[in-house]
Amino acid sequence: MIISGQLLLPSGERTVNIQPGWLRLEEDRIAEVHPGEIHSRPDLGGEDFLVSPGFIDTHLHLPQIDSFGAFGERLLDWLNGTIFPAEIAWSDPDHAQLRARSAMEQLFACGTTGIVAFASNHFESTRRSLETARELGMRASIGQTLCDMEITPELLVPTADSLRQARELLEGFPPGTDRVTASVAPRFALTCTGELLSGCGDLAREFGAIVQTHLAEMEPECERACELHDASDYTSIYERAGLLTSRSLFGHSIHLSPDERSRLAAAGSKAAHCPTSNTFLRSGVMNRAQWLRDGYGVTLATDQCAGYEKSMIRVARSMLEVTMFVGEKPPSEFEAWWQITAGNAQELGWADNGVLREGAEADIVLIKPEHPWHKLRRPLSDLLWTFDDRWLKATIANGKLVYRQA
Ligand code: GUN
Ligand code: ZN
Repeated sequence: MIISGQLLLPSGERTVNIQPGWLRLEEDRIAEVHPGEIHSRPDLGGEDFLVSPGFIDTHLHLPQIDSFGAFGERLLDWLNGTIFPAEIAWSDPDHAQLRARSAMEQLFACGTTGIVAFASNHFESTRRSLETARELGMRASIGQTLCDMEITPELLVPTADSLRQARELLEGFPPGTDRVTASVAPRFALTCTGELLSGCGDLAREFGAIVQTHLAEMEPECERACELHDASDYTSIYERAGLLTSRSLFGHSIHLSPDERSRLAAAGSKAAHCPTSNTFLRSGVMNRAQWLRDGYGVTLATDQCAGYEKSMIRVARSMLEVTMFVGEKPPSEFEAWWQITAGNAQELGWADNGVLREGAEADIVLIKPEHPWHKLRRPLSDLLWTFDDRWLKATIANGKLVYRQA
């Protein structure tokens, strides 16, 4: 397949540029990239298309896709009142499979081709979510949400069972071998015993798995976590369990002391920054620029459905806005596009993803606004701030057309 347009290409540290060009896909890979010339007869695209790598979302919850819009609630009440009932419905694997498919199709329609996601607390529903990602061609790391205390009985799985089920998923979808792999996903310190967290740390080390969890999202949560685990700060709860690894993603990571940030940085762990979720639940504002200065890597995520946005482009917009609100210089539009493509891929260790490069995975989005955007003075900034879903014309994942605007 030949695709032509304005190519979003890597260009130095933490940035991208756009150049006219074309590329050829062969099966699931990008076989050729030709900057500098527009192909006269592409299968997809044209001079006024943006051709971008598919977007990567590093933190979202598949069972929450039917629970958007519970505005006004704060984290702990929102979990109990809105989210846990929706996740209990995932005890039915057939329901879970249908909704997982719908979630992934909606993500493709937003240009997202790679995800790190929580499934529900149920083994079979998580396994079906992984199967669905494989069938649809989504690049995915998905974990069974693990909870062994202080949660409604329908979502509680005893410690030994939780660890056995997580292991079985890791064996079935081993990290590092495929586009679809299992991750280790203890929900957060409020619903996990020290024993479960340590078992998760052991599994993550044994399998070299991505760890995904929540850290320091809101202040009362931090206090409760320290009380339950007899800890001096929230980070130390995960630290003592061996969960601070270079493949660990800590959702939110807002209310962290400089010392916690430096320990997270030393471990090579990453924050999953969720700006739309943080404002929606009034949890706080993460200072991305400061966290980066501290050496704490930052990825960007929707956190559906506490995050009200499915589109990574609009979450990038929100990232720029909240960076300004904390008094920092916002990243450029080039860095924003880098973050949702190559940046997120790099932080996840997905070396072949997030870039238009020979040999990379063929995950591509085509965008075509109605106006002559590429002739403007700041084309990518224009696209970012005015983005309209009706401009997203096609998404290719794993070399196949997975979304095309009707
Ligand atoms: N903390 C623990 N579970 C969740 C969740 O599902 N969403 C958010 N935003 N925070 C959490
Ligand atoms: Zn989350």
